[in-house]
Parts: sequence; structure tokens; C-alpha cells
Amino acid sequence: MKELGKVYFGTNTKMYKNIAQTVDFLTRLDTLTTDLSRETLELFVIPSFTALESARRCVPPERIALGAQNMGWEDEGQFTGEISPLMLKEVGTQIVEIGHSERRHVLGETDWMENQKVRCALRHGFTPLLCIGETGEQKALGLSDEVLRTQLKAGLHGVTAAEAARLWIAYEPVWAIGVSGVPASPAYAAEKHRVIRECLVELFGAAGARIPLLYGGSVNPENAPELIPLPNIDGLFIGRSAWEAEKFDRIIRSCLALLE
Ligand code: 13P
Repeated sequence: MKELGKVYFGTNTKMYKNIAQTVDFLTRLDTLTTDLSRETLELFVIPSFTALESARRCVPPERIALGAQNMGWEDEGQFTGEISPLMLKEVGTQIVEIGHSERRHVLGETDWMENQKVRCALRHGFTPLLCIGETGEQKALGLSDEVLRTQLKAGLHGVTAAEAARLWIAYEPVWAIGVSGVPASPAYAAEKHRVIRECLVELFGAAGARIPLLYGGSVNPENAPELIPLPNIDGLFIGRSAWEAEKFDRIIRSCLALLE
């Protein structure tokens, strides 16, 4: 097993899957993965807001943790279209995904906004899953490391080492995500995870060495087993290839088999 003792597998269903589809997916995934020990596996699903309550009723939190795809950073107020941390708590949400590339690059979120959300999520006892990643243009300009370090330092500003123990980070290069994405090569992903780890240790000392780092961006059944054994890749955050429970289960099993 890897040093952390746990491997992380999760999916964000983006703006797909309605309530019935989410419940069906979760029920299947729970049945398929029932024999897998949660001592070494952390399995999570991040569905649409409207599906969260039904999702919570159909799977126990210790088997499949549930997350929200976004969150406002105030408890209440004049924030039309935002969702409050209290509302997410009410439906049993454990994880809050923050700064996914689609939020940053399609919906215009900034590092400052991600930082407000990270701190709010920590205040409310959620696990913030902060997503970072460089665009294709930034990569071409040789700016990837600077971008990752900036997103970490700005996004985690004001977070203490004690709070950092509850953080998860996903490295999702923007150019690797989605239908037109090109998956990062295992060597490239490992190198960027090393840069991220170094920055986290710089920020939080020993606590930074223990923050789970997940890779995301066109993970598929072929590349998952190449990525998961690499140093500083503690898990995989998967989109399209995880949206069928059977396929997701096969990916998880093929990776766990390599780590045993
Ligand atoms: P894909 O695996 O479909 O590229 O999506 C990754 C992602 O955005 C996970 O949050």
C-alpha cells in the first residue's frame, strides 16, 4: 500500500445525471464495491445539488462519501444562485469541490473566490477538495509550476497546518479535461504532483506531506493503472470514465490490485 495507507477514487458527475440516474449509479456502485475494505479505499461521488439528498439516503457515508460541486462562502444572504454551507450540511454533504477548471475558466471564478470557499468549507467542517491546474497556453509558455504554486498559495491563504489535515487537492490540468482533453502522461503528472507536494510542505510542514493529492483529466481504464502507483499520486478524480458504475468499479479494482 502507498505511504498514506489509503487510495482515493472519486467522480464528479458535472451537469449530467438527474436524481433517478444518480441514485441508480450510487446503488450499483455501492453493491459492486461492497467487498472492498474502506480502510484502504476512500470512495466519493460528487453529484448535482438536486440529487444530494436522495443520494445521501441511498448510501451510507462511510461507504461512499458525497460532495457538492460548488458552495457559496457565506452562511446566508443576498447571493442569488449560490448554495450555502448550511444547506449542504442539511443534506449530509461531506466534501466540497472548489475551483474545478470549469468553474474557473467557464464561469470566471478567481483564486480569491476559491480561497473564500476553502476557508468557509473548513469553518463548517467539510473536506475541501481544491482543484488546481494550468491551461494549455500556460503549459506552452512554461508557466505550469508557477501557476500551480500561485493557485495553491492564493487558494490556501490563511489556512493553518491543523486545518490542512482536512484538505484534499486535485491536480487537473485544464488541457487534459473532458471530451477534447489529452490525458497527461504519467511522467508529466508525477512531476507536477511533486511540485504540488513541495509547495504544500513549504506551506504546512509535515501536514503538507500528508494531504491527499488526486490526479484528474481524462483518466481511463488504460492510464489509471499507470498513474496510481506513482509517488505523490494518492488517488484519481475521474469524469467520463467513472459515470458507469461497472466501469468505475473495474478501474478501482485494477488500481487496488497493483497496490496490494
Ligand atoms: P474527465 O475525466 O471526463 O476528463 O473529467 C475530469 C474531471 O473534470 C473531474 O473533475
